[in-house]
Amino acid sequence: MLKLWSWVCLILFCWVLGGEFWVEGLGVNWGSIATHKLPPKVVVQMLKDNGIQKVKLFDAEESVLKALAGSGIEVMVAISNDQLADMTDYDRAKKWVQRNITHYNFDGGVNIKYVAVGNEPFLKAYNSSFLNFTFPALQNVQNALNEAGFGDSIKVTVPMNADVYDSPEDNPVPSSGRFRTDITDQITQIVKFLDQHKAPFTVNIYPFLSLYYGEGQFPVNYAFFDGDATPLVDNGVQYANVFDANLDTLVSALNATGVANMTIFVGEVGWPTDGDQYANIEMASRFYNGLLPKLGKNKGTPLRPGYLEVYLFGLTDEDAKSILPGEFERHWGIFRYDGQPKFPMDFSGGSQEIKPLVAARDVAYMPNKWCSLDPNASDLSKLAESVEYACTNGDCTSLGHGSSCGGLDAKGNASYAFNTYYQMHDQDDSSCDFQGLAKVTTQNISQPNCNFTIQLVAPPSSSAAAAMGRPFPLALAVSVVFFASLFL
Ligand SMILES: *[C@@H]1O[C@H](CO)[C@@H](O)[C@H](O)[C@H]1NC(C)=O
Ligand SMILES: *[C@@H]1O[C@H](CO)[C@@H](O)[C@H](O)[C@H]1NC(C)=O
Ligand SMILES: *[C@@H]1O[C@H](CO)[C@@H](O)[C@H](O)[C@H]1NC(C)=O
Ligand SMILES: *[C@@H]1O[C@H](CO)[C@@H](O)[C@H](O)[C@H]1NC(C)=O
Ligand SMILES: *[C@@H]1O[C@H](CO)[C@@H](O)[C@H](O)[C@H]1NC(C)=O
Ligand SMILES: *[C@@H]1O[C@H](CO)[C@@H](O)[C@H](O)[C@H]1NC(C)=O
Ligand SMILES: *[C@@H]1O[C@H](CO)[C@@H](O)[C@H](O)[C@H]1NC(C)=O
Ligand SMILES: *[C@@H]1O[C@H](CO)[C@@H](O)[C@H](O)[C@H]1NC(C)=O
Ligand SMILES: *[C@@H]1O[C@H](CO)[C@@H](O)[C@H](O)[C@H]1NC(C)=O
Repeated sequence: MLKLWSWVCLILFCWVLGGEFWVEGLGVNWGSIATHKLPPKVVVQMLKDNGIQKVKLFDAEESVLKALAGSGIEVMVAISNDQLADMTDYDRAKKWVQRNITHYNFDGGVNIKYVAVGNEPFLKAYNSSFLNFTFPALQNVQNALNEAGFGDSIKVTVPMNADVYDSPEDNPVPSSGRFRTDITDQITQIVKFLDQHKAPFTVNIYPFLSLYYGEGQFPVNYAFFDGDATPLVDNGVQYANVFDANLDTLVSALNATGVANMTIFVGEVGWPTDGDQYANIEMASRFYNGLLPKLGKNKGTPLRPGYLEVYLFGLTDEDAKSILPGEFERHWGIFRYDGQPKFPMDFSGGSQEIKPLVAARDVAYMPNKWCSLDPNASDLSKLAESVEYACTNGDCTSLGHGSSCGGLDAKGNASYAFNTYYQMHDQDDSSCDFQGLAKVTTQNISQPNCNFTIQLVAPPSSSAAAAMGRPFPLALAVSVVFFASLFL
């Protein structure tokens, strides 16, 4: 009898495990710099439907945390860079913890596991703006967490851009990785502090950006995981992809500060699908089809074999992100702006077939109305000016060479620009005029491979104009370029 039961248990156990199989530790970044956001509840249901069990946020937005309550999903909340200076005051840090951590700590509350203190605060492009605030803020937040009783259950971290470390030009190999000299003191303090508190070092790694900034010099295959690239050899270790080489450069830099074996999280990694010649569905699929099985098999990197905690970037496209880094910035989602999956992905990490992601449910769109160039418009002398206005205040990041709508002619371009402006402004009639050049139509004017999208219904409280008017964080995702130099 006992024997039978143990078999039944074993089978049940395997069945449960099989059904739940998932790339262990895989999380997704939930950004929300969009003119029309999916309601948080819809997003949480989408996370659940796809078996996503960890999310990383960029703030501690109340509506998002409320929607996550009771879901069991592990959450990394964040303190934005512009709040770091405040956090150097201990009372402010305590208030932050009370409001944004303790507040959600009830039965059926939010499963907060990490607090990201700043977001890439030592990014070169920030010119040291946050250099002196980050470590004091980190200490205060940790102390406030300790005081509130979360010292053991919630860990702090500081997501860093991979531009905080590098290898010397004369020896550009992972084993010679060191932190940037202009931040050595601050980052060493941070590393030691995180290590002492058993907290992870978080880094954002973007092979896409290596390729993008490589300007034709970076070997394309080295951005992917197919093993087709000529490997870089470092002390007999072969590196066949830039992700591994980059991460191991960090391992060496960390080791050089005197802490061995500290936990590393990859806070952001992903591939955009539009806005550049290298940003498309094919390349994004190729990237994820290499990354996910690698994570599923717990392969790790040569210096860090085994399990690696990774957060994909990102969940959905965000049409209000700054395009300073490039037009691709608004197209990082594994889902479109409306929660429709872009391509099949294997979240099981190789144990199941690659299958479509589950789309967001109950998505509310505005009516089927588009804004188009009026085919009867005769005086086109002001067209360029109007298109420029529409693009500056709308989203034309799919129009460039090599992008999904890059094949439109000048009139198609104008219609596309007018339509994005019109949709972003909630299909308000006055936003489809453009000095008499534009006209509302109920005909779907989408082109093959180029969607003229209908926006989501805006939530009652926030208008598109308000969302667009807020200052965009300098969301520069500039990442290491130096691996490109390996091949020059
Ligand atoms: C809580 O988090 C929100 C969103 O990130 C932030 O705006 C607010 O200032 C925080 N509250 C406190 C008391 O610090
Ligand atoms: C950093 O410095 C450069 C050059 O001085 C300047 O163009 C840029 O606006 C500065 N960026 C920030 C975020 O202060
Ligand atoms: C940071 O603090 C140091 C020492 O107090 C000071 O010399 C330096 O100018 C500060 N840097 C910035 C960017 O504020
Ligand atoms: C780590 O640093 C020690 C010296 O502190 C050195 O002996 C060791 O080789 C380094 N390991 C790696 C993987 O860089
Ligand atoms: C680091 O990890 C390696 C491999 O797991 C182990 O051999 C080594 O002893 C560890 N070093 C320290 C300082 O914990
Ligand atoms: C263009 O003008 C013609 C003739 O005046 C008219 O029949 C047609 O409906 C107009 N088209 C649009 C899109 O306004
Ligand atoms: C369409 O717009 C894009 C982006 O502004 C531009 O690069 C392209 O040259 C335009 N095409 C035509 C035919 O005007
Ligand atoms: C418009 O047409 C495109 C391309 O055929 C299609 O993908 C899209 O779903 C249509 N949009 C609407 C709102 O029907
Ligand atoms: C256009 O939208 C449809 C869904 O409406 C989607 O299936 C299709 O992939 C989109 N095409 C492009 C090029 O984004």
